[in-house]
Amino acid sequence: MPNTAVQIGNLKNRGFKLEAKFWQEKWKSVETPGFHKSEYHPQLVKNYPLLELSPNDPFLIPLCGKSLDLKFMADKGHKAIGFELSIKAVNQFFHSHKIKAIQSDVGPFKRFQSEYIDIYCGDFFKWREANLPAIRGVFDRAALVALPPKMRQEYYQVFGELLTVGSQILLIAFEYDQNLLAGPPFSVPASEVSRNYASHFNIKKLSACEVEISNPRFHQAGLTHFQEVTYLLTKK
Ligand SMILES: C[S@@+](CC[C@H](N)C(=O)[O-])C[C@H]1O[C@@H](n2cnc3c(N)ncnc32)[C@H](O)[C@@H]1O
Repeated sequence: MPNTAVQIGNLKNRGFKLEAKFWQEKWKSVETPGFHKSEYHPQLVKNYPLLELSPNDPFLIPLCGKSLDLKFMADKGHKAIGFELSIKAVNQFFHSHKIKAIQSDVGPFKRFQSEYIDIYCGDFFKWREANLPAIRGVFDRAALVALPPKMRQEYYQVFGELLTVGSQILLIAFEYDQNLLAGPPFSVPASEVSRNYASHFNIKKLSACEVEISNPRFHQAGLTHFQEVTYLLTKK
């Protein structure tokens, strides 16, 4: 029996319902999924000075899980705003950082609001109904690459609409041989990033580094090459 990620990754034309079920089950099945990092993401820490942000600027982390990066941005004085499907992940986030959050219903979302961090629990693709403040920066780690090709098309369009001129996205993408392994995480090559973002953003490749393949699933698939590529996108 193949593991669920591969099984679901192989299904063509899967819609949001199946996608949502996959992530909800992933969060249900373990306390902390393998993608979660127990430290701030090194690319965010390193490249934060490149983000042209002012104190208090709202900063978005889409598909945030219980990422510590929300805390990093809040500690820098920004209003960190996350979107996450799994209420378990959201509860774990506030509980583990001992942050009190007020809950309210905002459109289709359950909003968890604290002084510096708000998380909207629900489907990010409904972001228009969240009444967001003007977002000046985005950190995309394991968000774009978590989505299958069809959903990525919808995802690229969000930022053309959501962000104003000068706003930035710090994006981390992966590149590997997709023929050897079904995602997530998906391989999103530079050609795809450029094809979908170049009309709205100036794209600067900041770094590309080979990542150690520690995941047994990747080993079993025969992957020998797995690159993490970091981009800075600035809205034109
Ligand atoms: C690969 S994880 C990455 C989490 C986080 N960015 C991190 O670095 O730890 C992707 C997350 O997106 C959430 N997710 C998937 N689809 C979503 C959607 N449509 N709206 C909101 N969250 C979603 C999943 O529940 C999961 O926690």
